[in-house]
Amino acid sequence: MARFSRTLALFVVVFGAFITAGDTNLDAKFTDLLGKIGTVREEMNCERADVGSVATKLNAAAQFGDFFSCERNGRAMFHFQLCFNAFLDAYLNGEVPIHTTTIAQWLCGSIGGLAEIHGFARFRFYATVESGMNSLEETARALVAPGKGILAADESTPTITKRFKSINVESTEEYRRDYRAALFSAQGLEESISGVILFDETLRQKNREGVPMLQLLQEQGIIPGIKVDKSTKPLAFFPDEKITEGLDDLRDRLNEYRELGAKFTKWRAVITIGANIPTEFCIKANAHALARYAALSQEAGLVPIVEPEVLMNGDHSIERCYSVTELTLKLVFEELFQHRVVLEQMLLKASMVISGKDAPAQSSASAVAERTIACLKHTVPAAVPGIVFLSGGQSDVRATENLNEMNRIDGVPWQLSFSYGRALQSPALNAWGGSPANVGSAQKALLHRAKCNSAARFGKYSSGME
Ligand code: 13P
Repeated sequence: MARFSRTLALFVVVFGAFITAGDTNLDAKFTDLLGKIGTVREEMNCERADVGSVATKLNAAAQFGDFFSCERNGRAMFHFQLCFNAFLDAYLNGEVPIHTTTIAQWLCGSIGGLAEIHGFARFRFYATVESGMNSLEETARALVAPGKGILAADESTPTITKRFKSINVESTEEYRRDYRAALFSAQGLEESISGVILFDETLRQKNREGVPMLQLLQEQGIIPGIKVDKSTKPLAFFPDEKITEGLDDLRDRLNEYRELGAKFTKWRAVITIGANIPTEFCIKANAHALARYAALSQEAGLVPIVEPEVLMNGDHSIERCYSVTELTLKLVFEELFQHRVVLEQMLLKASMVISGKDAPAQSSASAVAERTIACLKHTVPAAVPGIVFLSGGQSDVRATENLNEMNRIDGVPWQLSFSYGRALQSPALNAWGGSPANVGSAQKALLHRAKCNSAARFGKYSSGME
């Protein structure tokens, strides 16, 4: 109710401003301002490292200064400033106000432009402002925007150490920082990457030049997220099965991550296929933890990415993978329902239905696509905005081919996207090899895989792109 009254009050203010300000003088000033924004934007593109100075320039020159000091519209200008502040406040508090009209869009378009020149992507306001739009939903949808997917760069310290070992690089904090800073600074990454999942260490790091890693992403309009589980441990009395830990103190950690600037979270559960496993108990225990995590994440204002990964390890058939994945997803969505998780405000991170790595018969891309979509249709409600796949040890090209095949199937209710770790990073990691001299080729390798997967989101990838 309070939010509604605030929204109503804001609408009155905006509408009042529109009426008072609706003269041609103001329109001309707006056009002029948009021109200036264009210029500064161009400057920003060529001087990315100098965002600070652009922001300062803007503060001095354009931030309502010459624009809003307009003589005849003093009153209207005051309203505009009020609106601007209120919009930003509401946006930063995660409450995009309700506006349906072009007036709001007109205002927001300008505000978005203004905010952009400050160099803070979190101020970006491009989203069309629609009635009742909810910011968690908005984030979930932005993460699976057509042609875009997520870069999973959230390897825990032991996992990144393993990856570095494969290229003979020592896993020090500096190397981890330099490698990830190289990835996040790739020019044009935002064209195919909507969000990046970070590990706790990275979220708090700055690059060599002292720019926070988060800012490297935000400046490109890439949404930062955070892995919040504390990894898997053996499930007591259930040999070879794992349970994901991290629920203790999760509420406090989530609030801190939100304050640090994260917009979404990830929790990974692991289901192993073997002789007499998985047991239903293990799946249920993991599903319960996933749902508790997802509810806490939404409560904290963060979009949860719920990841029950059915591992590819083993020699099982694609049909065995189908039945395990089907049961897992059924139990996960049952728990999500019991925990009152809002489906529109989450994403599912799924493993593909695929034969085991050591299976004698390896599945074709069309079989993977057909079986995966069939399985998801039986288990995942259409209210979930998107499903992002993990690569799980598939080769980079295979992961792209499989995603491409899935996106060629009609009548699927969700966005089908990627949230790849290894399949996006492997060529970049190899090209980098720990040397600053190779940053350019590492970035090129990352951009290439990101572009291929972006094409796969439309079913338009072909081997000719490699
Ligand atoms: P892979 O794509 O390497 O499986 O990593 C994705 C991920 O985030 C697993 O949690």
